[in-house]
Amino acid sequence: MTIGTTSAIEKRELRNVLGAFTTGVTIITTRDSEGKAHGLTANSFSSVSLDPPLVLWSQSVGSTSFCAFNGGEHFAINILADDQIGLSNRFAKSGADKFAGVACTDGVGGVPVLAGTAAHLECTKIAAYPGGDHVVYLGRVERIGCSGRRPLAFYGGRYMVPYAHELGPMSLVLSGIEPVSVAAQRHVQAALPAIAEEVGQHTLLLGVWGNHGPTVVHWEPSKRPVSRFFPPGLVVSPTRTTTGQAFCAFLPESVTREFVAEDLRQWRDPGEDEASQRARFDATLAEVRERKLARVVDKEPSVLHRVPTVAFSTALYDAAGAMSMSLGMVAPAHQLSADWNGAAPRALLRAAQGLSDQLATLGAKE
Ligand SMILES: Cc1cc2nc3c(=O)[nH]c(=O)nc-3n(C[C@H](O)[C@H](O)[C@H](O)COP(=O)(O)O)c2cc1C
Repeated sequence: MTIGTTSAIEKRELRNVLGAFTTGVTIITTRDSEGKAHGLTANSFSSVSLDPPLVLWSQSVGSTSFCAFNGGEHFAINILADDQIGLSNRFAKSGADKFAGVACTDGVGGVPVLAGTAAHLECTKIAAYPGGDHVVYLGRVERIGCSGRRPLAFYGGRYMVPYAHELGPMSLVLSGIEPVSVAAQRHVQAALPAIAEEVGQHTLLLGVWGNHGPTVVHWEPSKRPVSRFFPPGLVVSPTRTTTGQAFCAFLPESVTREFVAEDLRQWRDPGEDEASQRARFDATLAEVRERKLARVVDKEPSVLHRVPTVAFSTALYDAAGAMSMSLGMVAPAHQLSADWNGAAPRALLRAAQGLSDQLATLGAKE
């Protein structure tokens, strides 16, 4: 952890630190004296007091709508639902008519109350305090509404979806392997943005062995995306993908056998006999075990990735030393070298080792 004094704090550093505080996302709205609606995306919203009911938020003095809020008497805090990212982006830019086509009703003092939100608060502005390059508005809550929709969250400069910390006892019993604990999966997911950076901004994928075989449960998009299409819950081929090969190499054969047999049958080249296809796959698995890494070079674009790709995957282990998840990366072939010893696969292996060490500690605590 680095510690900076006020004078030494750089704006970017401060942004990073503030970004570590997870918030919701709101659109704050008002109506000016001429009846024109104004609104902006804001995450500076905070509750202040229950009795009397008070809330605050702060606005940059540079924002276009500053005069409308500074001069206005009312505002509404619209707490966005997790499917309202488009609306958030629209209200985070100045100009244009932000309200065109947006369903809303009039709240206290005529302030626009947006439809489809998680909740909203209609407020009377009771104070405005100077706060550096922002003004802090204190509002008394007059009217509220709550839809029960899941709210959108914001963390580290990115939109997030909040989940409950524990899902309760899981009864999923899979043949011969321990289901991955929710805590372990979350722990790994939380580490992925930093790992994407370490491997050189390639898309990461986290896999588990589900009841239909290797299943991608999470994609970590990178700044150099391989695709715009990242379906979680995607069951992948056990023999032709790095995720599948990693599981087949490191899970007990009894767990993977049926899935592998079916997949090989499906993908057998005409003219190739079963035994030699099997021998080829066994040789692939032997190499995966030796290198602790699976690699697939796809020279043709696929349905998922419209460009030729290079992918690597490796195993993550639980406290008992059994493979629990796969960690992979995939990138367009021109961005990721297929070299087994390249910087990116080495970084992936290092990251996986670190995660397995952490999962072992996590397992010991559970
Ligand atoms: C997640 C998020 C949170 C934001 N929070 C605030 C905030 O609290 N206060 C603020 O003044 N601007 C905030 N902004 C920036 C404004 O939304 C942005 O400057 C917008 O263009 C202002 O609109 P206007 O210029 O039409 O007033 C935030 C933007 C995003 C994406």
